[in-house]
Amino acid sequence: MKKIYIMLCFCFPFLVNAQLQNIQIIPQASEIKNGIGHFTLTKSTIIVLNNAELKQEAEFLNQYLLENYGFSLKIEKSLTVKKNFLLLGLSKEQSQWIDAYKLTVLENSIEIWGDQNAGVFYGLQSLFQLMPLPPQRKISIPSCNISDYARFTWRGMHLDCSRHFFSPEFIKKYIDNLAFYKMNVFHWHLTDDQGWRIEIKKYPLLTEIGGYRNGSMIGHYRDQKFDTIRYGGYYTQEQIKEIVAYAGARHVTIVPEIEMPGHALAALAAYPQFSCTGKKLEVGKRWGVEEEVYCPSEETFAFLNEVLGEVINLFPGKYIHIGGDEVLKNIWDSSALCQQIMAKEKLQNSHELQSYFIRRIEQMVNARGRQIIGWDEILEGGLAPNAAVMSWRGIEGGIAAAKQKHFVVMTPGGYCYFDHYQGKPEQEPLAIGGFTPLEKTYSYEPIPDTLNAEEAKYILGAQGNVWTEYIYTEKQVEYMAFPRLIALAEVNWSAKNVKDYQSFYNRLNAQRPLLQYRKINFSESAFKK
Ligand code: ACM
Repeated sequence: MKKIYIMLCFCFPFLVNAQLQNIQIIPQASEIKNGIGHFTLTKSTIIVLNNAELKQEAEFLNQYLLENYGFSLKIEKSLTVKKNFLLLGLSKEQSQWIDAYKLTVLENSIEIWGDQNAGVFYGLQSLFQLMPLPPQRKISIPSCNISDYARFTWRGMHLDCSRHFFSPEFIKKYIDNLAFYKMNVFHWHLTDDQGWRIEIKKYPLLTEIGGYRNGSMIGHYRDQKFDTIRYGGYYTQEQIKEIVAYAGARHVTIVPEIEMPGHALAALAAYPQFSCTGKKLEVGKRWGVEEEVYCPSEETFAFLNEVLGEVINLFPGKYIHIGGDEVLKNIWDSSALCQQIMAKEKLQNSHELQSYFIRRIEQMVNARGRQIIGWDEILEGGLAPNAAVMSWRGIEGGIAAAKQKHFVVMTPGGYCYFDHYQGKPEQEPLAIGGFTPLEKTYSYEPIPDTLNAEEAKYILGAQGNVWTEYIYTEKQVEYMAFPRLIALAEVNWSAKNVKDYQSFYNRLNAQRPLLQYRKINFSESAFKK
């Protein structure tokens, strides 16, 4: 099969960067050679697999064809025809690259070769962007030869489902759109002060009580107005299993976030014995940072160990996000138990107590073969031995962690917080603040120039965050995420030498009908003068 592929490439002329065909894909590919002519995909095109492992990708392709064009194709294990076939193959040719693929479109055939299934999957995503949508009578695909691979391994998007809850169907659509733009991590923020959203069988009150609040903030924080409408919801373990499988089929890893020791009011409303005060608490109605946090007691650790056990059984990925941000320490500072623990563990201050907390949690996660990742506050008081860091308060936390040889995901607020305004505030729906237009997100460079080549290897990639205090509906999530998510997809995927904002803007503009067809409620702010 490989021989055929090489032969076809050699005997067909491709023209580097020629304008003969309009090959417009996002994220931009490393190398695109234009060909002459078109392949026409029909109901009688045959999918050929050179490896049985690619059945999953062939089925994904068929599902996509069925949904968008109303038919699917026959799948065969060997090549029995000379034309009108679409070959999916595994080859080691590009194995030094991340998620690499080669896509060759000729008049009689299409071939997609990847080092692994993921590469073939990304070749399919590029192919989809070359196919006409909205569908036309003839599915004509321009001849070309694309060699492509990812710059970073962590191409992430986050969604806060605590402040507002979004349906399992919407989560699937969000994941679908990540995969379409070759992103591969979904950071699912499942717990916070205002709602606990994941069923834990051993502790049912986490969702029965912690899953619902008796009111929410109306308007901006400074107005301090509240409604009295009961609000909530949660994902059952069955729903989560289904979403994890759905993401897996799209090569998206889900990183669940279980916040601790702060942002834990919903859990403490359900189980107040795990706070230091033991006070009866309510699930949070107001956005912001709360005084009540988990107490670093043995009872709390036993509880979190059980919770993390259930979480780890649901999510197969390497990383579990344990939060660690914005922990107010005043209750710890006045707690006799905390003072005892600090004396016993020889901890100098409450930052070191937080560090002790995170190290205890890391041991539970590592014992189950997984790694923790936390917000950059986990650097304060000393980093847990194997922890990865998510740098959100700028890039300094990421730099410090990389210098200590810890893995880092870059998500600095000024570039990667998609809850910020993206256009003139007077023309936009209410948002938390900030100003992060599309071009600013696009300009983001995840590797800080203060890192040397060795340290830079610890930067896994960048992630966009969608915090939802002021994002009430699924449509609004899309409005805030798109098109900044697409810009960040190119930041994460494309080689530096092919990155260019004007080119991106033009390709995005050309894809507006595709976004509409895919029913993505994207913001037009970047297109307004
Ligand atoms: C954060 O935005 N508090 C991580």
